[in-house]
Amino acid sequence: MLIARTIAAAALVTALAAASVEAAKPAPSMPPMGPAPGAIVGARQGSMIMAANVLNTVDRALKANAPAKSVTFPLSGLAKWAEHIPSQFAPSTSAVPGTRAKSEVWSNRQEFLNKATDMALAADMMLAAARADDSAALTSALEKARAACKGCHDSFQAPPPAAKAG
Ligand code: HEC
Repeated sequence: MLIARTIAAAALVTALAAASVEAAKPAPSMPPMGPAPGAIVGARQGSMIMAANVLNTVDRALKANAPAKSVTFPLSGLAKWAEHIPSQFAPSTSAVPGTRAKSEVWSNRQEFLNKATDMALAADMMLAAARADDSAALTSALEKARAACKGCHDSFQAPPPAAKAG
């Protein structure tokens, strides 16, 4: 009994000592909760480039007469991405240096949402065609997707800055 109590007391002392060492440690510096505006712009630009890669992958597969179902995996990613385009354009990102999003993304929000919906529908069509292993349907859905990319860029993406002379 006495031995058990002594062991318990010793364990408590050890635990308390550990706790006080823990308390003395400086708090680790945590990144802010939620993405900063510059991080959202980086993520959306990166995801746009990856979306272009998915379309290139589909185009190459069709030209090589590969089965439509072979591009199901990349198209499942494109479909998920396309459902969430508007959330990548938070108002806090409108003035981030390096963004090419035009102010119309926010001032003409309904039209921007319509373009995003066109994209989501085209991405879903491509995914359905791939799952059905239907190359003809995939070919026409790819055209719709390209038109959806361009349809949004024509109104909402500013041209690249002019190349510097020399
Ligand atoms: C609903 C509108 C919309 C749709 C749909 C859309 N984009 Fe974009 N895209 C934009 C905007 C706006 C920008 C500029 C973003 C920025 O610079 O912050 C952009 C930027 C880009 C960029 C440049 C990224 C960079 O590094 O600056 C590429 C490449 C791109 N898009 C490809 C695509 C492709 C491919 C598709 C179709 C699969 C697509 N986009 C669909 C609006 C759209």
